[in-house]
Amino acid sequence: MAITKNEILEKVYKARSDEEKRAAYDNWANSYDADVKGFGIQLPYVGASIFSQFVPLDTVPILDAGCGTAMHTIPLRLAGFNEFHGIDISDRMLEIAANHEVYNSLQRMVLGEELEFETNFFAATYCIGAMGPGHAPPECLNEFVRVTQSGGQIVFSTHSTESELAIPYHDLRTSLSGDGLWRKIYETPPFVSMPKGDAKIKHVIYVYEVN
Ligand SMILES: C[S@@+](CC[C@H](N)C(=O)[O-])C[C@H]1O[C@@H](n2cnc3c(N)ncnc32)[C@H](O)[C@@H]1O
Repeated sequence: MAITKNEILEKVYKARSDEEKRAAYDNWANSYDADVKGFGIQLPYVGASIFSQFVPLDTVPILDAGCGTAMHTIPLRLAGFNEFHGIDISDRMLEIAANHEVYNSLQRMVLGEELEFETNFFAATYCIGAMGPGHAPPECLNEFVRVTQSGGQIVFSTHSTESELAIPYHDLRTSLSGDGLWRKIYETPPFVSMPKGDAKIKHVIYVYEVN
């Protein structure tokens, strides 16, 4: 029996261990682009639009965290941004990303663990569609702040705070602001991110600047 769209989403959202997360995306990688386009995916394009609006065009280098197949980075390369360094938990997603030739480097790394980059290495960080249940945990935000230079932007999405799924991410965002480590520049209104996949799922894209 053919797998339905919602079964695909349920499967990736319910992955708990890093091994389950890696396996979920390794198994999905071949049909990922076609499937999410079929879901009417909005995140890569809304993300690219927000990124272009708030990050100067000459910003280098850029961390692309949870880079997947590069769907969200292709429009930014076309817009003139350069020097993306992609990381992802899934080797298969990284292989597909490599085929698009939009990255200066691609490495397997796990968001939520300490990243193998020096402090203040990146001028901006971009993480779209990679945080949430079955994906990167909130703690990856600490590492984004560590590896991004002062004055650099961190552009990322989470589930909308209308959903309890967003609470741990919201709590850490707020506490990083309270600790004076970053400040919020912009947030989109909640929007339906996969209208033909699951119209109940809403995301928000945030822009923070590191202090
Ligand atoms: C929904 S896809 C989004 C891909 C890409 N950012 C885009 O917008 O097209 C989520 C990606 O996050 C990756 N991912 C999930 N959990 C991760 C983790 N803990 N560490 C690194 N990558 C992770 C998956 O392998 C997958 O490639």
